[in-house]
Amino acid sequence: MKDLFERITNDKGPLGKWAKQAEGYYVFPKLEGSISNRMRFNGKEVITWSINDYLGLANHPEVIKVDAEAAQQYGMAYPMGARMMSGHTDFHEQLERECAEFVNKEAAYLVNFGYQGMVSAIDALVTKNDVVVYDMDSHACIIDGARLHQGKRFTFRHNDMESFEKNLIRASRRAEETNGGILVISEGVFGMRGEQGKLKEIVALKKKYNFRLLVDDAHGFGTLGKTGAGAGEEQGVQDEIDVYFATFAKSMAGIGAFFAGNSDVIKYLQYNMRSQMFAKSLPMAMVKGALKRLDMIRTMPELRTKLWENVNALQSGLVEKGFNIGKTNTCVTPVFLEGDIPEAMAMVNDLRENYRIFCSIVVYPVIPKGMILLRLIPTSAHNLDDVKETIAAFSSIREKLTSGVYKKIAAAFI
Ligand SMILES: Cc1ncc(COP(=O)(O)O)c(C=O)c1O
Repeated sequence: MKDLFERITNDKGPLGKWAKQAEGYYVFPKLEGSISNRMRFNGKEVITWSINDYLGLANHPEVIKVDAEAAQQYGMAYPMGARMMSGHTDFHEQLERECAEFVNKEAAYLVNFGYQGMVSAIDALVTKNDVVVYDMDSHACIIDGARLHQGKRFTFRHNDMESFEKNLIRASRRAEETNGGILVISEGVFGMRGEQGKLKEIVALKKKYNFRLLVDDAHGFGTLGKTGAGAGEEQGVQDEIDVYFATFAKSMAGIGAFFAGNSDVIKYLQYNMRSQMFAKSLPMAMVKGALKRLDMIRTMPELRTKLWENVNALQSGLVEKGFNIGKTNTCVTPVFLEGDIPEAMAMVNDLRENYRIFCSIVVYPVIPKGMILLRLIPTSAHNLDDVKETIAAFSSIREKLTSGVYKKIAAAFI
């Protein structure tokens, strides 16, 4: 018999094996200073493109004031206990009402974290007789929620409606056998590549097949749609989404998340979601802070206008210079380049140290081997100078990448 830790000593995992070269710089970097378009990294000012503060609320003086006042009045603990037992307040209920209203649903239920909430909601919504069908490129919270599911699950190729329907047919067959139902899960916006989930096409199949749809709209909430209500609003299918989910960790620049749907479904989640039944309630500072942020999203459309000005300038500028930004139709801006992991590291090092640009780098196994994805997240806190500077820097690093400069430097990393 082995010591349990023998494996983790020998096999650090696909990312962990790079820890020695990457830690503190490529992973677990420390961005310092106020959250904004320019922060400090490694002692230098950098243009920051890696923070999902889409609407620039993280450091808005009115937001900070409400956060601080709530923390002063209630401390960071109140209310204590799980919502069901002793952690319930009028403000939690108010936030739920306002979230539901904003996304045009009957009711909403707050959860402490999006990831945990999604895992737990999937667990609550299906039994072993039910079938889960979800996109292969889904966020880890969906994949892990589906893993907990004791019944059958099918994945479909990313945003591929032919593959979706094929798996829906298989799922329907299975659900007939077990006398269960089908839960389809998609993202409103796929956060790595920036493509919206094909919600319109998915809901069109409701006429042909019997399923319920859960949408994770982490990146769509606040950024898409006429009022900012997300990908469902943008595609005109919000009413067809049975369970809508958004986190407060992005446009809302906070912590927490919510599910919204009809009153029966939400009531069911309140009484059956184990991540909330057996966990402390969201602290009041988060709740009051979220109420303030939601109010600003509702009443300050200029934040979204500014965001989209920056998104459009960045994306059209990159395309003009011949960059491959994939099929993004949201704020998330991927730049696809070709190279191996050591080259990617050398390039990002150059980008950060010499061009003063900080963006996230995504490599295999998240994307195919030989590809490098530099992910840019424009926000309303950016400006057109940031965009110009960044596009010029990207043109320069691409030249170095294709002429083999980073390949030579990369040798030092291995
Ligand atoms: C698509 C998606 N779902 C869920 C989450 C998790 O949200 P939270 O940070 O609130 O746990 C994220 C955040 O990374 C996300 O991008």
